[in-house]
Amino acid sequence: MSDKRLAIVVLAAGQGTRMKSSLPKLLHPIAGVPMLGHVLATARALEAAHVVTVVRHERDRIVEVVNDELPESIIVDQDDTPGTGRAVEQAVGVLPQEFDGDVLVINGDVPLLDSKTLGKLIDRHRAGSASATVLSAILDDATGYGRIIREKEGALDRIVEQKDASAAELGVNEINAGVYVFAVAPLRRELPRLTTDNVQAEKYITDVIGLLRERGAKVSAAPVSEPWVVEGVNDRAQLSAAASRLNSLIVRGWQLEGVTIHDPATTWIDVKAVLARDVTIKPGTQILGATVIEEGAEIGPDTTLVDCEVGEDAVVKRTDATLAVIGRGASVGPFSYLRPGTVLDESGKIGTFVETKNARIGASSKVPHLSYVGDATVGEGANIGAGTIFANYDGVNKHATTIGSFVRTGSHNVFVAPITIGDGAYTGAGTVVRKDVPAGALAVNVAPQRNMDGWVEANRPGTAAADAAAAANGNEEQ
Ligand code: UD1
Ligand code: MG
Repeated sequence: MSDKRLAIVVLAAGQGTRMKSSLPKLLHPIAGVPMLGHVLATARALEAAHVVTVVRHERDRIVEVVNDELPESIIVDQDDTPGTGRAVEQAVGVLPQEFDGDVLVINGDVPLLDSKTLGKLIDRHRAGSASATVLSAILDDATGYGRIIREKEGALDRIVEQKDASAAELGVNEINAGVYVFAVAPLRRELPRLTTDNVQAEKYITDVIGLLRERGAKVSAAPVSEPWVVEGVNDRAQLSAAASRLNSLIVRGWQLEGVTIHDPATTWIDVKAVLARDVTIKPGTQILGATVIEEGAEIGPDTTLVDCEVGEDAVVKRTDATLAVIGRGASVGPFSYLRPGTVLDESGKIGTFVETKNARIGASSKVPHLSYVGDATVGEGANIGAGTIFANYDGVNKHATTIGSFVRTGSHNVFVAPITIGDGAYTGAGTVVRKDVPAGALAVNVAPQRNMDGWVEANRPGTAAADAAAAANGNEEQ
């Protein structure tokens, strides 16, 4: 049910200079989603009648994320006047004149904020018929945040920014979370009164609280019970703190859904990944992107899966895989590298030191050791010998290799694409396959072996090899 009396303003125009990054701050990913995406998803859950996102710095890249996560949002471009106050002023300017509900303002850099916390704030605001209600938090270290300044009896008086605060005000450990609910009429009235008369020469949204208070309007601030929910991300230390906090929530969530996770501290799971019951995750494992893992699969240790599908009861050890599909009961690793387009069918095997790319390996087929399989189709029940290279690249173009079902290829083969090896065919060890091999044939092209007796003793006299040969052949000096 949409809330007709609610408008949401998301502030996403700032540069994020403290990140010291060429990537805009709000696009730094947390659990596989840009920081701003988390805030937009939370906003979306509230089903407001109007959503406005304010952009400026790298606006096109920010707008792309808004279009992905909250396409119903109106986009407003902030002008040259800096500050969160100016951003809100412009956003409120595009709300319909007849809208007379509440405006929830959210900073784009509070990724852990959840819709339940916001719902409670809105309820509190409405229950108290306040002009403004501010979300606050009590922090051990309040450095960097705006401080909540209360009167002696405890009523909210104003918010002062860190850079404008007196020594006494800096001692306050109740902070402004950057999340506010305003009744739209008083907000509309005060916004034009904001000035840039402060250390940062910006219009601060936080100054609206003091202005309302001067008029005797009702304002209040309520601390959240768990301060990490509102921690802002301004630098990379806060970025990693927020990421690990969210990760521990995600890991715990999957544990409670029936996933065994041996070591939460070294397991990273993106917010879009999906795991079934009785999946086991071993230490040092990252389940990233939109990876889906089916029941009973065992992943890790030391495995990274990006946008992969893993079937029931598959086992994937010490592997790096991107955009790969691993079938039910299949086995991958240790030390395998699966690149995009790898499909390993049911009960197949990609083994130790094997790299695959754009390769379909059929049911129960095995590539057990030391091989490169690129641009290939392998039928079912085939076995690719150790140390085989699918030579797919002629220096200009890539070509495909097709291997039939139940094929047995010898160790140390090179398949020079394009070629086809028919069903049930064999190849000898060391074969360089340049021509198609018919079904059921044995292909060999290694030159017959010649043994030149006595060569080492004659040509390498005095070496350890020559001495050993002499001893073995009974030619030792008397
Ligand atoms: C802000 C608050 C501070 C609060 C903190 C909570 C102000 C003046 N200060 O400080 O009281 O404790 O958040 O995390 O609001 N933005 C715009 N346009 C701008 C400037 C910023 O849209 O001109 C956006 C940014 O993209 C960001 C958000 O507003 O998403 C907050 O800006 P930021 O610079 O991070 O403010 P803080 O210094 O953290
Ligand atoms: Mg901030």
